[in-house]
Amino acid sequence: MASPSIDWRTGLPDLIGERLTLRELRESDADTLFVELTTPEVTRFMWAPPASALAFEHFIGWARGERATGKYICYGVVPRGEQHACGVFELRQLQPGFLRGELGFVIAPRLWGTGVFDDSVRLVLDFAFRVVKVHRVEARAAVDNDRGNAALRKLGAIREGTLTEAFWRDGHYVDQYLWAILDTRWGRPSPAEGR
Ligand SMILES: CC(C)(COP(=O)(O)OP(=O)(O)OC[C@H]1O[C@@H](n2cnc3c(N)ncnc32)[C@H](O)[C@@H]1OP(=O)(O)O)[C@@H](O)C(=O)NCCC(=O)NCCS
Repeated sequence: MASPSIDWRTGLPDLIGERLTLRELRESDADTLFVELTTPEVTRFMWAPPASALAFEHFIGWARGERATGKYICYGVVPRGEQHACGVFELRQLQPGFLRGELGFVIAPRLWGTGVFDDSVRLVLDFAFRVVKVHRVEARAAVDNDRGNAALRKLGAIREGTLTEAFWRDGHYVDQYLWAILDTRWGRPSPAEGR
C-alpha cells in the first residue's frame, strides 16, 4: 500500500494486488496496449483510442507529463506473470486540488470477469482517496454499456443521473449515466478539513 505522504507527481508508486501490479505506463507497453485495447468490443463504448502503437507511445509520454503537473494519473494493469500493461485506469482532475476526479478504465477482454477489474479498481480508488485525497470520484458510462455500468454499481458507486447526448458514437449522440463515489462512502474520513 502506498504511503499517504508520497509525492505522486514525481512518479506513481507501484500498487500490488493479488492478481496484478498497477504501475505507471512505459513506452514498451505501447504494442500490447494497441493490440489488446483497440478491438471493436472494447472501443464501442469509449472515445476513440490512439490509432497506432506509435500513438500509444505518444499518449504514454503525454500521461507522464500531465502526472507531473498534478492533473492526471494513469496506471497500467500488468497481470501477475506478465510484463506489459494490458489495461488502463485513469483519474483526471476535474477541480483544482483534485477535490473531484473522473475515473476511466479499460482492460483487455481476455481478462473480463476474472477479478482483475475488482483488484485494480480497489487499488486505484484507495490510492485516489488516501494518497491523492480526492473527495469525489465521478465516472460516466454510455447507458447501453451494461457491463461497464454493472461494474460501477457493484463497486458501490451511486448513479446520480443521465447526461443527455453526452457521447458521440457511430454518427449519433448517446446518453451516459453519471456515477459518483465519495471518500466518506469508501470508508475514509473526508480530507477537506486538512486542506
Ligand atoms: C468495464 C470493464 C473494465 C469491466 O471489467 P470486467 O472484468 O468486465 O468487470 P467484471 O466482470 O468484474 O464486472 C462486470 C459486471 O457486469 C456484469 N455483466 C456482464 N455483462 C452484463 C450485461 N450484459 N448486463 C448486465 N451486467 C453484466 C458481470 O456479471 C459483472 O458483475 P458480477 O461480477 O457481479 O458478476 C471491462 O468490461 C472493459 O474494459 N470494458 C470496455 C471499456 C469500458 O466499457 N469502460 C467503461 C467505460 S467508463
